[in-house]
Amino acid sequence: MSHTMKQCLHLRNPHVLGVISLIIILGSLNVKVAECRVYSGLANIEYPAINCRKHSAVLTDFGGVGDGKTSNTKVFESAITKLSQYASDGGATLIVPPGKWLTGPFNLTSHFTLFLQKGAVILASQNELEWPHLPVLPSYGRGRDAPGGRFSSLIFGTNLTDVVITGQNGTIDGQGSYWWDKFHKKQLTLTRPYMIEIMYSDKIQISSLTLVNSPTWFVHPVYSSNIIITGLTILAPVDSPNTDGIDPDSCTNTRIEDCYIVSGDDCIAVKSGWDEYGIKFGKPTQHLVIRRVTCISPDSAMVALGSEMSGGIEDVRVEDLTAINTESAIRIKTAVGRGAYVKNIFVRGLNLNTMKYVFWMTGSYGEHPDPKFDPKALPIITGINYKDIVAKNVTYSAKLEGISNDPFTGICISNVTIQVSAQQKKLQWNCTNVAGITNNVTPSPCALLPQKDKTDCVFPNDKLPIENVQFKTCSL
Ligand SMILES: *[C@@H]1O[C@H](CO)[C@@H](O)[C@H](O)[C@H]1NC(C)=O
Ligand SMILES: *[C@@H]1O[C@H](CO)[C@@H](O)[C@H](O)[C@H]1NC(C)=O
Ligand SMILES: *[C@@H]1O[C@H](CO)[C@@H](O)[C@H](O)[C@H]1NC(C)=O
Ligand SMILES: *[C@@H]1O[C@H](CO)[C@@H](O)[C@H](O)[C@H]1NC(C)=O
Ligand SMILES: *[C@@H]1O[C@H](CO)[C@@H](O)[C@H](O)[C@H]1NC(C)=O
Ligand SMILES: *[C@@H]1O[C@H](CO)[C@@H](O)[C@H](O)[C@H]1NC(C)=O
Repeated sequence: MSHTMKQCLHLRNPHVLGVISLIIILGSLNVKVAECRVYSGLANIEYPAINCRKHSAVLTDFGGVGDGKTSNTKVFESAITKLSQYASDGGATLIVPPGKWLTGPFNLTSHFTLFLQKGAVILASQNELEWPHLPVLPSYGRGRDAPGGRFSSLIFGTNLTDVVITGQNGTIDGQGSYWWDKFHKKQLTLTRPYMIEIMYSDKIQISSLTLVNSPTWFVHPVYSSNIIITGLTILAPVDSPNTDGIDPDSCTNTRIEDCYIVSGDDCIAVKSGWDEYGIKFGKPTQHLVIRRVTCISPDSAMVALGSEMSGGIEDVRVEDLTAINTESAIRIKTAVGRGAYVKNIFVRGLNLNTMKYVFWMTGSYGEHPDPKFDPKALPIITGINYKDIVAKNVTYSAKLEGISNDPFTGICISNVTIQVSAQQKKLQWNCTNVAGITNNVTPSPCALLPQKDKTDCVFPNDKLPIENVQFKTCSL
């Protein structure tokens, strides 16, 4: 680490400045202040975050080269290792300046902010040797693409607290085509990397970024709590494989808002582990709010619950979402062998345009990690509330398919207007093994969901603790 870098770190520490009293030292330090500012071009950058940091450094302080060709893997690693020493002294920010920063995966640290300036692009390496291998997730028992292990995500963090990934809408480009090709050619022996994965962690913010072309899922908080994801633009070709936008997985207290997602798989997929592995791990996704998200995903759902839901999914509040040319709005996916539950789901205020199914529940999703799943592990699907929905150009209003001897119950649908397309299908509501009520819904629902006058489906009035978390205004 360079001498200049040390001085910059200290100078950005107001406490250190405050205890220096000798004029002659201050005089010499002032020169360095100017040097640092000119060097990094960071005047007057303010941004919202759950926590501000006392220290900061720029990637170039550690020898980063932003030419899009030179690997910065070691640079990110040494920068974050160095900055991790400030965890107990006000934390640190690593600033990624404008440029194209090619890198393999790197690990985050606690009380840390990764800040991508406007014009900064982190490019994921396509050299597989740069990608460490990780063991499979315990709640899945195997990888999604291959039974063996998995590649580390590009940006990975585990057992952390207080981590922020943000910026001035800088970009992270997963350069996913390399991995999509391998997937299509069935050449993968390990599961593809996610773009961002945060595991066993608390107090996470991911915001104000553009994420493009992830190798598979984009943002995967897993076994974590108190997560805020806001202001993300997530873009992948609509035919790219498994490019889910945001997948909260066995997480508690999560807030996802103000995102725009175009993807080849579910825009948001709520998960909690797979069959016997998820049941044993037993960690639900609960207390989740999703609001003001726009989704385009012609072959998948705006919000999917499952199909991996074997730790349970509970207390999900979905509000003010827009979908354009998306296969379905909210889709519950499960199967015999999943066990656990999806319950207390509250949805209101959907604006949908061009969709195959507005309401879709699938009890026969299949896809098991191995044949050892328990055929007696039946999922309980109950307390599913939908209201205030307007949909245009729809092929089927609903396909609601429960499990025989295990009906999906407590379904409530009210105040819904569905305008069917010119190519409308005759059977608008196809319902099997479901029970519930409806009110003020057109076209008329199936006999299993009879009309009950004055029904206004529930949406909770209280706020989740994560909704009350306020951002501070931080500056660089
Ligand atoms: C990140 O940490 C995990 C262990 O938690 C380790 O296996 C992996 O190699 C680390 N990745 C990098 C890029 O150092
Ligand atoms: C991370 O936390 C999990 C769950 O508490 C624990 O099992 C694991 O050993 C921890 N890993 C590290 C590297 O501390
Ligand atoms: C961020 O960048 C993306 C891609 O260029 C753009 O579509 C989006 O509108 C930008 N968001 C903001 C808040 O500027
Ligand atoms: C019905 O839903 C529409 C569209 O979301 C909304 O504007 C309207 O206020 C709702 N009506 C009632 C009675 O809640
Ligand atoms: C209506 O949906 C069909 C697909 O079902 C699509 O081809 C057509 O472009 C949509 N029309 C409008 C006006 O969005
Ligand atoms: C209705 O759904 C059931 C169960 O998924 C399916 O077997 C049947 O073919 C569907 N009927 C029509 C007319 O689509």
